[in-house]
Amino acid sequence: MKTRVQALCGVTTLILVTLLLGCNKPAETSQSNTPGKFQGVIKIGEFASLTGKEAAFGISSHNGTQLAIDELNAAGGALGKELKLLTEDDQSKAGEPATVVRKLITRENVIAILGEVASSRSLEAAPICQQNKIPMISPSSTNPRVTEIGDYIFRVCFIDPFQGTVMANFAKNTLKAKNIAILTDVKADYSMGLAKFFKERLIADGGKVVAEQSYSGGDKDFKAQLTSIKASNPEGLFIPGYYTEVGLILGQAKELGIKFPMFGGDGWESTKLMEIAGPAAEGMYFSTHYSPELDAPLAKTFVQKYQAKFKEAPDAMAALGYDSALILVEAIKKAGSTEGAKIRDALASTKDFVGVTGTTTIDAQRNVSKPAVILTIKEGKFKYVETIAP
Ligand code: PHE
Repeated sequence: MKTRVQALCGVTTLILVTLLLGCNKPAETSQSNTPGKFQGVIKIGEFASLTGKEAAFGISSHNGTQLAIDELNAAGGALGKELKLLTEDDQSKAGEPATVVRKLITRENVIAILGEVASSRSLEAAPICQQNKIPMISPSSTNPRVTEIGDYIFRVCFIDPFQGTVMANFAKNTLKAKNIAILTDVKADYSMGLAKFFKERLIADGGKVVAEQSYSGGDKDFKAQLTSIKASNPEGLFIPGYYTEVGLILGQAKELGIKFPMFGGDGWESTKLMEIAGPAAEGMYFSTHYSPELDAPLAKTFVQKYQAKFKEAPDAMAALGYDSALILVEAIKKAGSTEGAKIRDALASTKDFVGVTGTTTIDAQRNVSKPAVILTIKEGKFKYVETIAP
């Protein structure tokens, strides 16, 4: 008897335990509906120059992008899902963007792509995104051809016809310089485009190009070009290049006793420029997208958050990377879907989106019109000079 009772108790306990465990399951599921828990992930791809010649660009852009994704996840993600940023390093090398973006799309099944900073690398990846109907947003590539690749390709920054105009006006009005020399990187679509747009506006405004010289990204010695530029006696030298070469050019120009002002575009923007050029960078100017000194309310809190996390002030790439992620996720929410075509349509209708780089309205060409800022280098640091409206 005793044993039967014990056995019965045992069975009852077993049933109870089973019931309890059974009840536990739905409880767990309902728990994941509460805020803070996600039902699945949304994979977003990013390609960036995390190493190589333009590593400073890729790292800043990635930091800004990741910061935005982390904040969005803390605020509940999108469509009840967690946002996952999958980042691939293209090593600042031609050929790599195509490889890594193809991998992100076909192997990782990302639903959208963020990148790149440099126009040539965005131009390389864009046709792959277009073919696969995967929306791509370049945070900071300014060459007009990038978005001309197709209707899935967007950007959240101004374009170089505007940047070229800004710097031609700057030469005329601020430097009071008419006779200008230009030194272009023939390997960078960005450099070739910006040189062309600058030159067109300079000439239209009565200025003159007294010397045109070129180099190939990766070069180290610019003395021959600088010597010939010096001989043409310009009042200023426009260098639409990237910081690695520009830093060397400024240093070598100083060694050659060049005194006229030198100026460029957003490609100058890295503290590496001052590390490479040293005091030779003092008093030079360039245009870019953003300054941490600007005090729009959103920009201020962004600077504080970025500084706290990365122990340095954010630059234009960081700010544009941040905004590119916010704008993409806003579009995903608006589309209510992770389908490429639906996100594309939502992105195309982005209007008056307030981010840290100002207000973004995507136009019919999938470009954005935004003010440019001019910075100078003073005591080894970037210093805000002025904002130029479109
Ligand atoms: N605009 C540059 C390009 O298109 C990249 C860049 C953006 C560099 C922002 C610095 C800051 O290649």
